[in-house]
Amino acid sequence: MTKLTELREELHACRNCELYRDATQAVFSVGRASATVMLVGEQPGDREDLEGEPFVGPAGHVLDEALEQAGIARSDVYLTNAVKHFRFERRGKRRIHEKPAVSHIEACHPWLEAELAVVRPRVVVCLGATAGRSVLGRPVKVTQERGRPLDVDAPYEVVVTTHPSALLRLRDRGDYAGELRRLADDLAVAAAL
Ligand code: URA
Repeated sequence: MTKLTELREELHACRNCELYRDATQAVFSVGRASATVMLVGEQPGDREDLEGEPFVGPAGHVLDEALEQAGIARSDVYLTNAVKHFRFERRGKRRIHEKPAVSHIEACHPWLEAELAVVRPRVVVCLGATAGRSVLGRPVKVTQERGRPLDVDAPYEVVVTTHPSALLRLRDRGDYAGELRRLADDLAVAAAL
């Protein structure tokens, strides 16, 4: 059994915080252990929680568009999340995404550390502030820190960019294409490292 397969199995028994109680399942990663670029998202969304795979819902489609523009194949990257269970609020039949608290990010951090130890990427891309907080261990201002390698004491480079779901809100407005380009440019910066 590979180390990643072992981690995936162990993750399903995770009780590090209370989020496991309402989520359908823990969502591990997709991608090869030999990938040089690791993308870290926030947490699984509604679709990911049901399907058990990261970035298969609407934010995943935005990410796919950005990766394509950046000339990066999804199959070449390792894709995971800072928090492995879906945090949501129930409103009637709907499950509304709720941002993970710092306590959830910290409780889940050992899983990300274990993935970093196995994959040993050259570059880690933080998709949004939650991923930034987990990878860098400090609050991150995406608008100020995005798109360039940050000063980190780690065996990999770290680049922060916006979360693809932030673009979903712009979909019907003129700025979607521009913001998608910026996300793709940040991904290309990371890939070039
Ligand atoms: N948003 C994330 O951060 N991760 C996913 O897997 C899906 C949506």
